[in-house]
Amino acid sequence: MHTDSASALIDWETLWAPYDESTYGAALACLEAEDVVLDIGAGDLRFARRAAKHVRRVFAVERNREVLQKAPQHLPVNLTVICADALAWDFPEGITTAVLLMRHCRHFKEYLARLRVIGCQRLITNARWGMGVECLPLTPQRPYWSAPPGWYACACGAVGFKTAPAEEIPVGSLEETVFVENCPSCLAKRVVQSRSIL
Ligand SMILES: C[S@@+](CC[C@H](N)C(=O)[O-])C[C@H]1O[C@@H](n2cnc3c(N)ncnc32)[C@H](O)[C@@H]1O
Repeated sequence: MHTDSASALIDWETLWAPYDESTYGAALACLEAEDVVLDIGAGDLRFARRAAKHVRRVFAVERNREVLQKAPQHLPVNLTVICADALAWDFPEGITTAVLLMRHCRHFKEYLARLRVIGCQRLITNARWGMGVECLPLTPQRPYWSAPPGWYACACGAVGFKTAPAEEIPVGSLEETVFVENCPSCLAKRVVQSRSIL
């Protein structure tokens, strides 16, 4: 039985668990035929193998060798498998789309920053909201301060609701999420970091 303190000790990010068909289906639907895909934390390659049928090339990186060994021996020729820590491994050039199906990811900000450096254009992920799948552009987004009241999702991985008096919240905005940079959570982390330097 897990107590609260025991479950707090579990490093969920390192655990292998497949997702459901609707998650994989939604992620596959975001892919385009010309894509070169990087699947981060690819597990037993069940998604990467399917993705390889739809795109030009797939790189799948997974650090757990035992999980990788569960994959079938015969893999599509356009699928390259790397057993490595994706936080330390140098991402290849030419990636157009990254896939991060990792609901408990604690390094969203690092992945996004590194994908931007290599010129990757899109990220397909369930990491920010922890449910569903979103396909987000990796181009710079508007600063939080300029976003209208309503739901936002930040490049650091935080999500939230920008409040305002009810009469200032546009009716349609409750159905939409605005992608922002430099949200209050980014600011709070920077304050903590600068305090620890002092
Ligand atoms: C919840 S599973 C999902 C696997 C796969 N994305 C899927 O949807 O079928 C997350 C996987 O990410 C892997 N993982 C977590 N952090 C990683 C890292 N830094 N480098 C490589 N793999 C990682 C774990 O070992 C685990 O297999």
